[in-house]
Amino acid sequence: MDETPWWRDAVVYEIYVRSFADASGDGTGDLAGIRGRLPYLADLGVDAIWLTPFYPSPMADGGYDVADYRDVDPVFGSLADFDDLVADAHAHGLRLMVDIVPNHSSSAHPWFQKALAAPRGSQERDRYVFRDGRAPHGPGENGPGGTGGEPNNWLSTFGGPAWTRVPDGQWYLHLFAPEQPDFNWRNPEVREEFLDILRFWLDRGVDGFRIDVAMGLIKAEGLPDTGPGFRSASPMWSRPEVHDIYREWRRVLDAYPGTRVAIGEVWTDSAEDLARYVRPDELHQSFNFAWLEAPWSATAFRKVIDDTLRAVAAPTWVLSNHDVVRHRTRYGEGSLDPSAGLARARAALLSMLALPGSAYLYQGEELGLPEVIDLPPQARQDPVFKRSNGELPGRDGCRVPLPWSGTAPPYGFGDGGSWLPQPDDWAELTVERQAADTSSTLSFYRRALALRRDLRGTLPDAIEWVPAPGDALFFRRGPLTCAINCGEDPVRLPPHERVLLSSGPLAGADLPADTAAWLTDR
Ligand code: NOJ
Repeated sequence: MDETPWWRDAVVYEIYVRSFADASGDGTGDLAGIRGRLPYLADLGVDAIWLTPFYPSPMADGGYDVADYRDVDPVFGSLADFDDLVADAHAHGLRLMVDIVPNHSSSAHPWFQKALAAPRGSQERDRYVFRDGRAPHGPGENGPGGTGGEPNNWLSTFGGPAWTRVPDGQWYLHLFAPEQPDFNWRNPEVREEFLDILRFWLDRGVDGFRIDVAMGLIKAEGLPDTGPGFRSASPMWSRPEVHDIYREWRRVLDAYPGTRVAIGEVWTDSAEDLARYVRPDELHQSFNFAWLEAPWSATAFRKVIDDTLRAVAAPTWVLSNHDVVRHRTRYGEGSLDPSAGLARARAALLSMLALPGSAYLYQGEELGLPEVIDLPPQARQDPVFKRSNGELPGRDGCRVPLPWSGTAPPYGFGDGGSWLPQPDDWAELTVERQAADTSSTLSFYRRALALRRDLRGTLPDAIEWVPAPGDALFFRRGPLTCAINCGEDPVRLPPHERVLLSSGPLAGADLPADTAAWLTDR
């Protein structure tokens, strides 16, 4: 019997709920829509799905502003729909993970509303981070948009100061939008509340959690000004005490039957820092954003792989998510060849699936969707776009609803249009069209995931580098050799008996540019 816990080498598919499938016909994806597409996900060959937040929310940040952690927003369905989805996912052999948002709530959350109504120094205010301001030296003192007088110089990730003033003169902290006040994780009531929220969803049968902003919960005592250092050097991120929280969470997860897991959204400067989150009594996994941040370069890929495998006991790999430019578009930037982005995206996927550990996919990458870069400004909803007065495009371009079928928008997404407009030229990219085409990106993903399943349990955890020419990488895992060519010229494939799969056409014994292949000695 295979003793490996399910999550160690799972392929997890991220569902951005608003944009996956709309059963109600209101233009926004929902839980019933996902339920109707479970056969598609089972056929695709993923092991688990992760749902982005579907909780009641004013949607100031696409649902990452939660007003009630124990319910479903009516736009997405009901708790009964959620229970049906869990049961059906399990019946299809899929695990289900939900997103938990512990760093901040919505400003519409009853706790924050009570905090606003309560006086400074009250217990209600202590659940969040309220402070008096410091003597203003003048507008702009605390960075762009600062009015002067903020308690410190911290900036919001979405732009502008991380502080908003309330009528009695105090300020509250929000590392993201003003509609997302940060909790005070030094307050025991906050800690208890989240343990209870975890239990609420575990009792409903979820297999795990993706933890939003996992490295942000604890801020440095005294909230000192930031210096130039960003992630690990900052008073906002990765404070040592944050690990105590995950130790508590792990005890809750371990008390449940089956194997319930947690993966942290942890942005760090180093693999060593990342590894601290996945010690045996803490989180099971952390996203490995270094892989996603690496440019199209064999040297860069090799460094991330080496650093990760050296430091992190349970590695993960990810190329895209709902916060970053889709990797097809990222890899295409700077290339004169218009087909390079997709070719590279497919090659990177094949390489990632050959590595030890688990892989996270983002909905639509299996269709080779590009980033939609020309969304009309009035359609854009991301607070990043709004708060930068349109200077930054924001993240809507990777959140455009999926094309399922047909030849015109909304391409089978639902009967009521789509909350973000889909491009007119996506007819070629629909699931329907690609399922019928053996050379499509969807067919390629299905083959790659099926092969990975066949190989499961037969590959060692370690990889061995094989010398490679030019800007290519070759590595072996037992009988499997993966070769990827990031250079401009073809390279000779390493010795092998058979080609199991390639991300694009091979040229005889050569691996063309922007292509990867799985080879075997057997
Ligand atoms: C990370 C989420 O993935 C992102 O979409 C969100 O805006 C921030 N955390 C704030 O919750």
